[in-house]
Amino acid sequence: MATEKSWQARISEATDALAQSFVESISYDQRLYKHDIAGSIAHATMLAKVGLISDAERDAIVEGLKGIERDIAGGNFKFEIGFEDIHMVIEAELIKRIGEPGKKLHTGRSRNDQVATDFLMWCSSVAEQLMQKLADLERAFGAAAVRNAGIVIPSFTHLQRAQPIDAGAEMLAWAAMFGRDFTRVMWVLSDESSLYRTWPLGSGAVAGSTLPLDRRITQWLLNGLDVPTDQELAETNSQRLKRQASEAKNLPWLPAELAESTEKTFEKMAAAPDADSKDQWGVRDSSSIEAVSSRDVGCDLLFCCAMIAQHLSRWAEQWIIYMTTEFSFIKIADKYTTSSSMMPQKRNPDLLELIRGRCGNVYGDLFALMTILKGLPIGYNRDLQEDKRIVFRAYDMVSSCLTMAAAIVNSANFVKENIEPTLEHGFLDATSLAEYLVTKGVPFRTAHHIVGTLVAKCEKEGKTALGQLKVEEFNESLKAHGSTVGLDQDVYNALGARNVVKRYQSAGAAGGKPFEDQLAAWKKRLGM
Ligand code: ARG
Repeated sequence: MATEKSWQARISEATDALAQSFVESISYDQRLYKHDIAGSIAHATMLAKVGLISDAERDAIVEGLKGIERDIAGGNFKFEIGFEDIHMVIEAELIKRIGEPGKKLHTGRSRNDQVATDFLMWCSSVAEQLMQKLADLERAFGAAAVRNAGIVIPSFTHLQRAQPIDAGAEMLAWAAMFGRDFTRVMWVLSDESSLYRTWPLGSGAVAGSTLPLDRRITQWLLNGLDVPTDQELAETNSQRLKRQASEAKNLPWLPAELAESTEKTFEKMAAAPDADSKDQWGVRDSSSIEAVSSRDVGCDLLFCCAMIAQHLSRWAEQWIIYMTTEFSFIKIADKYTTSSSMMPQKRNPDLLELIRGRCGNVYGDLFALMTILKGLPIGYNRDLQEDKRIVFRAYDMVSSCLTMAAAIVNSANFVKENIEPTLEHGFLDATSLAEYLVTKGVPFRTAHHIVGTLVAKCEKEGKTALGQLKVEEFNESLKAHGSTVGLDQDVYNALGARNVVKRYQSAGAAGGKPFEDQLAAWKKRLGM
């Protein structure tokens, strides 16, 4: 039978079509083909190194796998649903192509450690792409900050007018949010992360293997290093460190001072009391049971995606509000809006709404995997097959939203003419006035009270701004609050949105020099 699976020797009935289409994952896990082949090449290389297969068999396997990879990449490959998943499809094809040596590839291996390895590889491989897209979006906000710097807008708390800010500062706030997402992805998922340094391959189905597999070799290969030499494999940790210390001296390209300090560092590490207890290969202390059971990396990726989606959704909502006729603060390119099938005048922010809405899908995906894992006994359970569907979907969604968001931001500008006429509405300078009083020696609580009274007075008298009050009126209020402080014309420098923005002094503030400092730092960071 063409698609007879390895375990069909024991299970007698031929697979039923209904069951087959229910159980398969090849329709979506074919996306893992490169990772699966990389894992298989590492496994075969290890098998040969420990003598479980010959070098010639290894070469046949590696060549066969590379041929399959080429054919899949070139679109010349038919994925047979009967083989269930990418692991069985590739193995079956390998056996078909190279015969007997192909049957040795699965020695000491299970689909359980295989899929856990592929999954880990995929999740960490998308970290770089996510980081790149986040950096693009940060750059888009950085450029928007440059374009819109100098436009004064109100900031909002409780969606009520709060204090005046530089529009550029708000752009940098979004850049900072996505900057944190960048750091989160880097810390949790990238190659530098210490969370996922051990590869599951070599754990077998759950208990490991009675064969003399050497997980250290697989480990090195999957981390992009060469096959360790016999000398390297035989060394203890401190022996290796001592050897590296002396090698540092002989590297022709390493400047002498650096070589010396490198040598000293290695020597120090070798002399540490725990040098030999440290697991230099990252596998000695790792559990085969845990390795095949864990989908932590998927949860971490989904959490990163959910946070990005949350930030995108908040930003989208902000701009949807800014695009209403009532606000008219921002304009994005027409090509990123859509019209109504009925109301000809409409310019709807559908793309922003979709970004806002798609966040819900990503949250759902985080909860989907968390829920699948909840209550799952340790060891592999088929429930885990759902992990891939979920992370692929969440990653694809966040990834396309990031691209769309950057395009929208790059097309957007604040509309000064619409913002200015109402800029002095809402007493945006009230806090600035209170702080001005503080500089004159009035305790902040008293100042807060005085300004509150002055705002009420303006409202009662039909005045729309504190700047419409006379100096005497400020002084009367001060006196009424038992203050002996007397103000002069200088008070007007603390009033008016544009004046206030120039006066900000504290680090990170949304205008003036602190904003200039932030902008300079972002330009440097983003290479702008
Ligand atoms: N397609 C499976 C998955 O994605 C591979 C592992 C199957 N293992 C098993 N024992 N049935 O999880």
